Amino acid sequence: MSLAEKIPQQLQAKIDNIIDNVEPSPWLNAAEQADYIEKIKALLKEKDAVLIAHYYVDDAIQALAEASGGYVSDSLDMANFGAQHSASTLVIAGVRFMGETAKILSPEKTIIMPTLEAECSLDLGCPIDEFSQFCDQYPDHTVVVYANTSVEVKARADWIVTSSNAIQIIEHLMAKGEKIIWGPDRHLGQYINNKTGANMVLWQGYCVVHDEFKLNELELLMQAHPDAEVLVHPESPEGVIAKADFVGSTKQIIAAGKRSKADTLIIATDHGLFYKMSQQVPDKRLIPAPTGDKSATCKSCAHCPWMAMNTLVNLYEALRDGSNVIEVDEVTRQKALIPLNRMLAFSRQQGILTAGDA
Ligand code: 13P
Ligand code: SF4
Repeated sequence: MSLAEKIPQQLQAKIDNIIDNVEPSPWLNAAEQADYIEKIKALLKEKDAVLIAHYYVDDAIQALAEASGGYVSDSLDMANFGAQHSASTLVIAGVRFMGETAKILSPEKTIIMPTLEAECSLDLGCPIDEFSQFCDQYPDHTVVVYANTSVEVKARADWIVTSSNAIQIIEHLMAKGEKIIWGPDRHLGQYINNKTGANMVLWQGYCVVHDEFKLNELELLMQAHPDAEVLVHPESPEGVIAKADFVGSTKQIIAAGKRSKADTLIIATDHGLFYKMSQQVPDKRLIPAPTGDKSATCKSCAHCPWMAMNTLVNLYEALRDGSNVIEVDEVTRQKALIPLNRMLAFSRQQGILTAGDA
């Protein structure tokens, strides 16, 4: 077994254990929820802070981000918004790599997260020492990593990509004749290989949420809804991606939904996206792609266990106490900044990010 396959497999038990021990969010009644929202809004003003949330976090946090002058988006756009915003504190509701990305881009700002326990299976499945050893086996290859990685892995990379810009960046590198190592998501890597012919060497990590989407059940659902369009996040398995009418990042899936003429959309991504999606396309029927078939487990819920760790309560406490601050080593940060800035500059040039996005 190659190094690229061994490490993610070894980590599976650890990841399963983490998922099994995720604490359920505290239940709040409507009055308590409203009270937390008002207290958080007041603290955001008092502390010159802005709340930036990913589409997969709790609906109430997404609504609060928007109502308080913050932002809800995909990982690329969150990074761009935070870097361009004038607030001295960024509160990142999402998973740790998103907070770290904000810190890499804005070292002068205080970056707070509702919890520092919110990980990502892609990040956990790509430890720096083993990944670096893997890269060393291909010294003439350009190292491209997904944003869902640690600061150390980013610092080892030549390029960072997100699902919004991965295809364009790989095509750009191919045009220059570069050979490429890709990590950590094997499904996204395979999708890029299939679409571009890049023949990248793939690390074998995966997202525990998207890996659960099931082809057989999706086919049955498509038969039941023959006019539906299928929108898929590229962290999903190859067979599921092959059925898609559109493949893209969370933000791009929403945009594709808005463009779509179909009355019904089948969506293969974390169900957190349905909050924003249903606002944007209120007249369409939205159906979650199936995660359950004969091999389904209790983890097949299409919701990221780490995103779910962000709650109004821990968000309030972190902001109140100035706790859960993201720190990164300065030397590593400066190394990681190079490929990150490369990605942002490329994305702006290509119109994937526009200067006015923030
Ligand atoms: P996006 O960049 O599409 O927001 O994806 C981030 C992520 O973690 C999806 O699982
Ligand atoms: Fe990571 Fe998957 Fe969660 Fe996204 S949904 S943060 S890729 S574990």
